[in-house]
Amino acid sequence: MTILVTGGAGYIGSHTCVELLNDGYDVVVVDNYYNSVPEVLNRVEKITGKTVKRYECDIRDREGLEKVFEENTIDAVIHFAGLKAVGESTKLPLLYYQNNVYGSVVLFEVMSKFDCKKIVFSSSATVYGNNPIPYKETMPTGDVSNPYGRTKHFIEQILGDLYRSDDQWSISLLRYFNPIGAHESGLIGEDPNGIPNNLMPYISRVAIGKLPQLTVFGGDYDTKDGTCIRDYIHVVDLAKAHLCAVAKILETTGIEAYNIGNGKGYSVLDIIHAFEKASGKKLNYVIGDRREGDLPAYYADAEKANTELNWHAEYDIDKICEDTWNFQTKNPDGIK
Ligand code: NAD
Ligand code: WQD
Repeated sequence: MTILVTGGAGYIGSHTCVELLNDGYDVVVVDNYYNSVPEVLNRVEKITGKTVKRYECDIRDREGLEKVFEENTIDAVIHFAGLKAVGESTKLPLLYYQNNVYGSVVLFEVMSKFDCKKIVFSSSATVYGNNPIPYKETMPTGDVSNPYGRTKHFIEQILGDLYRSDDQWSISLLRYFNPIGAHESGLIGEDPNGIPNNLMPYISRVAIGKLPQLTVFGGDYDTKDGTCIRDYIHVVDLAKAHLCAVAKILETTGIEAYNIGNGKGYSVLDIIHAFEKASGKKLNYVIGDRREGDLPAYYADAEKANTELNWHAEYDIDKICEDTWNFQTKNPDGIK
């Protein structure tokens, strides 16, 4: 079985390639390296001892994608390629709609042309907006506060329309909560360009001395310690969820959404303390203002993925922090 992984050199994509290869799948990666480097795929090969066929190609490049489908028999696609910075999306909405929405439409058109109608799509818990917690798949979606989140909602809707137009499609929408952590080899992990937007890479760079101080965004929320609550999930657990989803779409048709989270909420201070324990470092942080757009608390009801995909998260927050610190210390300057 050959799986096309768009965005396969990225953070979640690379960990998923490892799990796919370890499980015996052949993997073809398409990535334009906008937010990653080819070396990541060399490291995937090192971890697995297997080869990754790769194309430097933008998903908006129809001819380039067609070449990939002409040269390979693709059984299913896992579609990670996309831009993901929430703040940037509010300043550059058209870039986000172009890259994420238009790029996805081109991909779906090329898949249709080559009669490949099985796809796992990287969606996000952000589509739930301001619903009561825990989030369930049956809740309404789309009340989203930023263009990035809207791209995820729109792509989910497009895939819904596609299935309604042709019931041979088999589509899995995975709504990720907060992926953090790294592969335990320390060879691959989250390696954002510039100053990180997200909590874990920021903490990790403060701990290694690359950034002076973490600002906790808000200490006056109505939560157990005043800081925001999120559902943090180990990236390897998340990667494994893709294998369960691929197995499912290969044998069925239809469209289903699944929450991929731990089902537990941790505060920002919980994460800081767990990271201090794992790294043995005291973290320099201050409590600052709230960040615009942040919800106080959310976490997953992951029952549907547990029962229908037979997927369960294995790793706890201590293991997540240990693996992040291992990756950070082995790659103090990132992956080059
Ligand atoms: P990432 O930026 O590390 O990986 C995305 C990859 O896609 C990168 O390698 C990038 O170079 C590539 N890419 C982007 N635009 C492309 C294009 N037009 N053509 C070809 N390649 C392109 O991000 P990630 O954290 O691995 O996220 C993967 C997916 O999961 C994204 O769609 C993201 O929106 C979604 N997601 C991420 C999170 C998270 O917190 N990391 C949460 C929910 C959903
Ligand atoms: C986590 C918590 C911050 C940085 C984002 C996207 C979401 C999804 C996952 C893609 C929050 C706090 C952060 C810092 C802090 N991505 N924080 N200081 O915002 O929960 O989710 O990534 O789909 O759509 O919005 O993740 O890691 O940015 O923040 O205090 O320097 O850490 O306020 O409570 P977020 P995050």
